Amino acid sequence: MKFPVHRPRRLRRTSALRGLVRETRLTAAGLIYPMFVCPGTKVRQEVGSMPGVHQQSADQIVEECREVEQLGLPGVILFGLPETKDATGASSLAADGVVQRAIHAIRKANLKLLVITDVCLCEYTDHGHCGVIENGEVVNDATLPILAEQALSHARAGADIVAPSDMMDGRVAAIRETLDQHHFENIPILSYAAKYSSGFYGPFREAAQSAPQFGDRRSYQMDSANAREALKEVAIDLDEGADMVMVKPALPYLDIIRRVRERFDVPVAAYNVSGEYAMVKAAAQKGWLDEQRVVLEILIGIQRAGAGMILTYHAKDAASWLKAC
Ligand code: PBG
Repeated sequence: MKFPVHRPRRLRRTSALRGLVRETRLTAAGLIYPMFVCPGTKVRQEVGSMPGVHQQSADQIVEECREVEQLGLPGVILFGLPETKDATGASSLAADGVVQRAIHAIRKANLKLLVITDVCLCEYTDHGHCGVIENGEVVNDATLPILAEQALSHARAGADIVAPSDMMDGRVAAIRETLDQHHFENIPILSYAAKYSSGFYGPFREAAQSAPQFGDRRSYQMDSANAREALKEVAIDLDEGADMVMVKPALPYLDIIRRVRERFDVPVAAYNVSGEYAMVKAAAQKGWLDEQRVVLEILIGIQRAGAGMILTYHAKDAASWLKAC
């Protein structure tokens, strides 16, 4: 492999050549757009730390979903900001809860896009944890039936895919069993299987008003130092019936995405989270980075690492840039 016979630059000379030999092709078809639903009508409030992302009422969600569909994006994932919070997240189960109402509205508008729902308690509990509390601790088993009921209520409202993000042990099995008992055996589970305890969720907690009111999430979300444990989490979730698995966040965990991709033959998603979005936005607003270039580079990097699907707040921008080039 010696110069002058080998000249890798030969294949980089023109845009047509570069396009021909490109190994990874980013398309809108693999991008999912996250959205925050709040009560009311005609509400559209921008999230301070996430320019371009809004907390919005169901009617506004429908309007933005039309745009999402027109851009060729396959789906959205919904997070709810409920009217009321309590110790067990009861508002997450209501047939007329915020997320359930938004799903109905999207269905009524005849939109074809996939509606994925985040299944978790943190947005609905007054303490902000992802499970119920006993003696100051987030307890696992008592949380499972609530998560399963929440997933069921999303399926009943018309969700296409449920995505548990709580990191309780056994939740995939509990959700699968409950969905199947109620004849929702065709609703897939996208499990946030390897979800790390991360500082990069900061802006999301402002957007979803879900910051824990005491302590942190280290007793249930993963330690960022661990990679082998991620493979164990994925194996367990697949064993319990997960159809697709997610690694989250994306950028500091590209090695995990790659290892999961290599070990398991199932669709792998990565969540390019709020903090990753906020960093790019802030730098772009200061003129320190070329936003379009770095966003497309980040997304291709996550895909190259092995993610077939990427959940990203940049989804709409990326889709319109990809259309233009
Ligand atoms: C809920 C949940 C979180 C995110 C997705 N689902 C927050 C958390 O675990 O604190 C984070 C998404 C993001 O930062 O964009 N459990």
